[in-house]
Amino acid sequence: QARRKLIAGNWKMNKTVSEGLALVRELKGLVASLPGERVEVAVAPTFVSLHAVAKELEGSSVKLAGQNCHWEASGAFTGEVSAGMLKDVGCTYVILGHSERRQFFGETDETVNKRARAVLGAGLIPILCVGETLAEREAGRTLEVVERQVTGGLKGFQAAEVATFVLAYEPVWAIGTGRTATSAQAQEVHKSLRAHLAKLYDGETAERVLIQYGGSVKPDNAAELLGQPDVDGALVGGASLKAGDFAAIIKGGA
Ligand code: G3H
Repeated sequence: QARRKLIAGNWKMNKTVSEGLALVRELKGLVASLPGERVEVAVAPTFVSLHAVAKELEGSSVKLAGQNCHWEASGAFTGEVSAGMLKDVGCTYVILGHSERRQFFGETDETVNKRARAVLGAGLIPILCVGETLAEREAGRTLEVVERQVTGGLKGFQAAEVATFVLAYEPVWAIGTGRTATSAQAQEVHKSLRAHLAKLYDGETAERVLIQYGGSVKPDNAAELLGQPDVDGALVGGASLKAGDFAAIIKGGA
């Protein structure tokens, strides 16, 4: 059975509540007119916009994602949000280990793994991000780095749990730079990640895991990237902030 595709828009630290509402209002209209069976669409607003955006998306096929969450269920963790709270507000997915979290907020494979446990425990789907820096790519270490991030992030999970994960391959040098991995570069890493999953778990599990590509995905490169056999969707940053561009990317995956 063919894997579905998942196109998710990561708004990062952008859009006020009213700006976010205007964006999803426009987006849901555009998405409704697309042939949607094989392509699932999600948006990841900031925490403060989740509730309002969830209300606006009622009755729409567009899903909601959190950008991060803490591993504890509740308690004295000022500034944090739990997986259960994201579930309660209407999320389906939670992005974990985004390179900006790893780079600016001290995220490690170990903390990503703890968060993933909480996300699954709350009945949500983790979108586990991995990716190499430019220096790592130039040193020929790409596969070693992403395989280490996948192994660490998935530590302790059973194959049946792993099969529910979404992975996002996001080369750090391609994020927000306008420099996209070529479709061949993306396919090479995605195929290797799937082989790595088969080695860690089994072939069937590896075939079920969705692997998104992220890093300067735009309307004009989406179809080619999404046409690769192991590219199961996109995690879109900048281009997801304009409904027309995001809808064009979704169309590229349909
Ligand atoms: O989560 C999204 C990625 O970081 C990609 O961002 O599309 O702005 O390069 P970008």
